[in-house]
Amino acid sequence: MADTGTTLGAPAERREGRDKVTGSARYAAEQTDAGRVHAWPVVAGIAHGTVRAVDAGAALALPGVLTVLSHDNAPRLAPADDPTLALLQNPRVPHRGWIVALVVAETLEEARAGAAAVRVDYDAVPHDVTLTDDHPDAYTPEQANGGFPAHREQGDPEAAFADAEVRVDTHYRVPPLHNHPMEPHAATARWDGGRLVAHDSSQGATTVRTVLASLFRLAEDDVTVISEHVGGGFGSKGTPRPPVVLAAMAARETGRPVTVALPRRFMAALVGHRAPTLHRFRLGATADGTLTSSLHEVTTHTSRIKEFVEQAAVPSRVMYAAPHRLSSHQVVPLDVPSPSWMRAPGEAPGMYAVESAMDELAVEAGLDPVELRVTNEPDTEPDSGKPFSSRHLVECLREGARRFDWARRDPRPRSCAQGPLLVGTGVAAATYPVMINPAQATAHGTPDGRFVVRINATDIGTGARTVLAQIAAHTLGVPLDRVHVDMGDSDLPPAPLAGGSSGTASWGWAVHDACTRLAARLAGHTGPLPDDGLRTHADTTGSADADSPYARHAFGAHFAEVTVDTVSGEVRVRRLLGVYAAGRILNARTARSQFIGGMTMGLGMALTEGSTMDAASGAFVESDLAAYHVPAHADVPDIEAHWIDEEDPHLNPMGSKGIGEIGIVGTAAAIGNAVHHATGVRYRELPLSPDKVL
Ligand code: MOS
Repeated sequence: MADTGTTLGAPAERREGRDKVTGSARYAAEQTDAGRVHAWPVVAGIAHGTVRAVDAGAALALPGVLTVLSHDNAPRLAPADDPTLALLQNPRVPHRGWIVALVVAETLEEARAGAAAVRVDYDAVPHDVTLTDDHPDAYTPEQANGGFPAHREQGDPEAAFADAEVRVDTHYRVPPLHNHPMEPHAATARWDGGRLVAHDSSQGATTVRTVLASLFRLAEDDVTVISEHVGGGFGSKGTPRPPVVLAAMAARETGRPVTVALPRRFMAALVGHRAPTLHRFRLGATADGTLTSSLHEVTTHTSRIKEFVEQAAVPSRVMYAAPHRLSSHQVVPLDVPSPSWMRAPGEAPGMYAVESAMDELAVEAGLDPVELRVTNEPDTEPDSGKPFSSRHLVECLREGARRFDWARRDPRPRSCAQGPLLVGTGVAAATYPVMINPAQATAHGTPDGRFVVRINATDIGTGARTVLAQIAAHTLGVPLDRVHVDMGDSDLPPAPLAGGSSGTASWGWAVHDACTRLAARLAGHTGPLPDDGLRTHADTTGSADADSPYARHAFGAHFAEVTVDTVSGEVRVRRLLGVYAAGRILNARTARSQFIGGMTMGLGMALTEGSTMDAASGAFVESDLAAYHVPAHADVPDIEAHWIDEEDPHLNPMGSKGIGEIGIVGTAAAIGNAVHHATGVRYRELPLSPDKVL
């Protein structure tokens, strides 16, 4: 790439930042098309059974109510590949909170009042929503999320564990967790003749277009999906969700543009969640801490309509050398909402277990937890045997220890009290895989020296728009302000979702290639450019890990200092520090925000976030932000993110790894380990709320 010295890696400000903070950025529910009306869902009040009858009479008599859709009268969709999108197509109720009707009215208030007036009668049958690791319906699936084999085994892990000099045999539980992006899921749809135009709060409008075309039996060219500004997603907007399908249905029925904005309290049942995971973890080691055996067994749940298996044992395949190893998943289908992606699916709950178990081993063997990890650093990826494209975990641990002043730590548990507070520190490692998907982009140079890059990338608050402009400017060797990026519209060249921490690498590769071609054409061009400038197109194949001779992952180290109040049981975090090795960092400002955001979410996972599946009702109890406690500013202490310069030629032209998810990965374990150090007590169930800790 041409090096202009300033554009790539520079802390460029978010291009849409001003629009967002001044309110001029329009989100999906804010599309005030002429004649736009609103819809409000009616959700199932039982956990298992069928709808016997939907009585819309009272609702239809209310002012402003235009129609009530249910399985009796809703437009017939083509069969959905994703069963969670077969909305209002049949009377089956697979879980509580499933959508059974939709009220469309002139105003939001009238739609809500109409929904309250709809009477639904059910034939309920008994439900089962309780996950146990010996559930009779548990089975080992073929694959877990991400396409990973559910079960892997090498050597004789049971025998090696039995023979080990030092052993840890323990269980952990991570509760269900909910994605609560600031902007709830929402869509506005309208029909222009036979064309469907939808504004959707999505992490990837290209897929939404494909799915809508299929459901409504349209050519893809007859569907446009716009996701210009998106207020977060954390995975829950990574697949098409009910609002956009319902809005399109209701718009077709009423002939009006329709907005469907999910009330936050419906989200727990309708946008996926992080499934609970029960972990059994066994580690065997020699007296000096060298691992001989590692067994990580995970039990999780899925819904009755869709198999989603949180791949929480997969990080055990990446982290530490042990000659004898087992990592496996079993899943129990229950009458619960369908789980899905939530920031670092697999790694976040899995590494809580891995890194808590490593801490337990360090305590058991009387070793420093940083040194224990260094001791077990593998030469190649333990499960696959592939060499790492780059792995600087040890450097992250050492740099973090230096910055955190780890050397001054008194390793004895419960060794520091300040009045009623016990103070402790903890460490945990983090990892996240490199994923890169195919993408297309065009680059356009105009006679006045400006450049336009077009790609259907999505900026879900990460700064994607800004970093793609940096990649383009850097590749073209031009100042950043000469480059405009068009994105967030499915009429643009197709691109993958903002998910799996893969967006920047995937889109950036296509942008880089289009700009490289354009630069070459400009260099070969003599005389003034034609009036309409020069255009180039790139179509990249991405780079699947299965095809790579390398194991490619980002790594990091998390350090935490906590206080535990011996009177109230409250855990507070005083300091959080992360050091990452994630390839080349392309924008220091937005990268830092991503890391800190991930760590903040990990802080919530450690201390306050947790959802309760109520056995009697089949509902997630903590269904709004009054009960589901995400960290507030006052909970987020001194928090630092650093990175080491990592050069890895086996990734993409920018040399970048993903950074959106790794920040959450080791944070909960670091905090949990710090709580053990503070108290001398090992809590093995998240969150570490006062009721558990007291
Ligand atoms: Mo992320 S959970 O892969 O959108």
